[in-house]
Parts: sequence; C-alpha cells; structure tokens
Amino acid sequence: MIVRKTPAELEKMRRSGLLVWQILQKLKDMSVEGTTTWDLEVAAEKMMDDAGARPAFKGYYVPAAGEAYRFVLCTSVNSEIVHGMPNPRRVLKKGDIVSIDTGVKLDGYYGDSALTVPIGEVSEQTRKLLAVTQEALELAIGRVRAGGRLFDVCGTVEEHVKANGFSIVREYVGHGIGTQLHEEPQVPNYVDRKNENPRLKEGMVLAVEPMVNAGKPDAMVLKDKWTAVTRDGSYSAHFEHCIAVTGNGPWVLTRP
Ligand code: MF3
Ligand code: CO
Repeated sequence: MIVRKTPAELEKMRRSGLLVWQILQKLKDMSVEGTTTWDLEVAAEKMMDDAGARPAFKGYYVPAAGEAYRFVLCTSVNSEIVHGMPNPRRVLKKGDIVSIDTGVKLDGYYGDSALTVPIGEVSEQTRKLLAVTQEALELAIGRVRAGGRLFDVCGTVEEHVKANGFSIVREYVGHGIGTQLHEEPQVPNYVDRKNENPRLKEGMVLAVEPMVNAGKPDAMVLKDKWTAVTRDGSYSAHFEHCIAVTGNGPWVLTRP
C-alpha cells in the first residue's frame, strides 16, 4: 500500500527536507582537496544535533548487510556507487567525485537526499556523467504528477541515461518515504514490466535517486558488507530528491 500524506504531513516532511538540503549545501562547500569523508560525517552529525533531528541512516537495519548502518552519511567516492562509509583516512583529492547521501527524521517524518560533488578539476567524461545523472533526476521530477504513473518517472531516468551512453544500476532503487525511510513503492531507475505501475496520486511522496555508471551497469558489494562498487571500476554518480505529488505539480521537498 502506498501511504498518502495530508497537507499538514507534507509540511512536516518539508521541514525535514529543508534541513537535509542545508546539510548537503554545507557538505558540498566543505568538499575540497584535503577534506576527509569523516570531516563531512562530523559536520553533518553536528547540524542534525543542533536542529534536534535524528539521523535517518545511523542505526538503520539493512537486511542485505545483516546489520545496522553506523553513520549519518553515505560517502561514496569514484567507483563506489552507494553506501560508502565515512573514514578519517579517506582524503578527497583532485579528480575525485564524492556522492554524499543523507537523511533525517524531524517530528516523525523523514527527508532523504543525495548529490555528487567533483573535487577540483575532473575529466570531461566525469563532468558529463554528473550532468547527465542530474538532468535525469530533473526530467524525472517533472513526471511526478497526479494522474501520471510510476513508470513515467522510472522510464524518464532510463531513457536519458541510455541516450547519453551511460548505464543504470539495477540493484539499488528509489522509494516512497514518510514516517518510514523506505515505504512503498520501490522507484527503480528503469522500467521493468514485471513490476506494478501504480497511478500517482496527490499526497504520495517519492524519493527518486538515479545511480549511474560511466561504464557497465554491474555492481558488487565489498567485504565490508556495505560499499557497493562498479565491477569494472568505472565512476558512478548519484543524485536524489524527495518529491511530493500535489495538485500544483511536483513539489521538491529537499530544496528551497
Ligand atoms: N540513502 C539510502 C536510500 O536512499 C539509504 C541508505 S541505507 C543506510 O535508500 F543504511 F545507509 F541507511
Ligand atoms: Co533514498
């Protein structure tokens, strides 16, 4: 069942969404040569504390890993797709890209967003990877509307990524969000006719999160049980927003 939120509930999700946005803006500014992914973790946790928010990821049990996640951020560098763990020894250097993914719970409602930041100058191909992934998300946001269908959103990401010669990660997907971090429906970045294709209705909230590889789509998880990486070592980008379906079209809760 897909839970629909009332306008008052959407206002609560808006507060969570804006806090996540503020945190990500700060972390983006901090992401320069010499910063460690642990520096980002510390700054994010402090901002959550100061705002009286709970981290959404820290303590979150993920069945595939068989344990709870231990950090407030996922920081996935270069060929890491998602679920990279902050580490004081991971120093960002010129030419890297880092996906920063975080979520909070405020007043019972979740917000969840991610962006990928280039460190200094990156290659032309990497700039294009980031641009195409972000464009795919923007195009998909435009399809989050009452009367539309889930596959409109999924298919839009898929088409834009494929048209630009990149590949879509299939093992990880977006999701509904509300009083739970992960609610129905799953929001894959591709259309699979075997899945259901529900009609989108006012009050639904989707976390859309394209994960795009420069090379082949195949992923694997490292021995740490969390870090998902590309099998071919190619770079991977990730952007995410939470979008509410409203009578006035898509409302991106995780940016002003
Ligand atoms: N950002 C991921 C998502 O959007 C959740 C991270 S899983 C956790 O679904 F273990 F890190 F919490
Ligand atoms: Co998410």
